[in-house]
Amino acid sequence: MAGVEFVDVRKSFGAHPVIKGVNIDIADGEFVILVGPSGCGKSTLLRMLAGLENISAGEIRIGNRVVNTLAPGDRDIAMVFQNYALYPHMTVAQNMAFSLMLKRSPKADMDKRVEKAADILGLTKLLDRYPRQLSGGQRQRVAMGRAIVRDPQVFLFDEPLSNLDAKLRVAMRAEIKELHQRLNTTTVYVTHDQIEAMTMADKIVVMHDGIVEQVGSPLDLYDNPANLFVAGFIGSPAMNMIKGRLNPENASQFIASDGTILPVANAPASARGRELVYGLRPEFIGLGADGLPAQIVVIEPTGYETHVTVRLGGSEASCIFRERINAQPGDTLRVSIDASNIHLFDAVSGRRLIA
Ligand SMILES: Nc1ncnc2c1ncn2[C@@H]1O[C@H](COP(=O)(O)OP(=O)(O)OP(=O)(O)O)[C@@H](O)[C@H]1O
Ligand SMILES: [Mg+2]
Repeated sequence: MAGVEFVDVRKSFGAHPVIKGVNIDIADGEFVILVGPSGCGKSTLLRMLAGLENISAGEIRIGNRVVNTLAPGDRDIAMVFQNYALYPHMTVAQNMAFSLMLKRSPKADMDKRVEKAADILGLTKLLDRYPRQLSGGQRQRVAMGRAIVRDPQVFLFDEPLSNLDAKLRVAMRAEIKELHQRLNTTTVYVTHDQIEAMTMADKIVVMHDGIVEQVGSPLDLYDNPANLFVAGFIGSPAMNMIKGRLNPENASQFIASDGTILPVANAPASARGRELVYGLRPEFIGLGADGLPAQIVVIEPTGYETHVTVRLGGSEASCIFRERINAQPGDTLRVSIDASNIHLFDAVSGRRLIA
């Protein structure tokens, strides 16, 4: 096992820079997820770690060894791709053993490793089947089995669940997490799905346009986003963002652009009068008889809770209520805001203000 380190890593395709100086420190045994919108450079970063792509500048280390110029086969990593890339003419067992065969491992050792991986993944009864005779989830497990038999220093996953239907994705999410708890192998996992990142990772790296926006534990990113990008990316429904400014005379009042006064508990004194964005997570809006008027736009019952979109402070805001809402679009609700859980962001830089 080994940790992984990216030190000021850069990558350009021709004149076009796509990775613009990335620093990430991954501890031995950690499960790290790279998350960000399409095109932000997640796969490129992973492929550079795997050795499938050259790097333009910087250093990549696996367990204190600089691997910049090492061939993929010499990096002691195993990668699971989105499309699984199984060999159709080989059985499950042969697919799993293939990389060991290439290395000319002794047959007995090979059989033992395949058997053990199959046992871990619940594939023992399927070892003689061909990929076409498997479900999507089973194919996914074979792809993981192929990585496990190699007993690498680091597992790399690139969107391994995106070909699966929603239900299977949830099940496989738990399986991969459990697998990591069992094997404790350092894992770098790429996804654009923030729920996957939140539910599986020890540590999340939020990327955007070739840079790292923030690194932290899932709940740290959720509770303390560094800027508007992270605040808007992590959490579903997304954080509400209301434009306006802090009252120059009273730091406990945010004046939204339509004149609505929203409560603030912890604003730094320097923020008075500044143009800001008021960040409010949907769950921190409650029902309160003497609260602010909020006109209902859409009501979405989910059973357990009710998602309601309202007009608040000149923009639309998502609310999540535990209560069932007996009202219609167009009706006005009274809502209260948990002022101690709001965030303020600088309107220009996007950075969160720290009280
Ligand atoms: N071989 C290439 N040549 C030129 N540009 C490339 C090449 N590979 C990737 N890019 C560009 O690099 C940027 C990052 O691509 P990358 O595949 O890393 O994104 P991603 O974050 O994995 O996105 P997605 O979520 O869509 O998979 C994109 O703008 C892409 O068009
Ligand atoms: Mg990608």
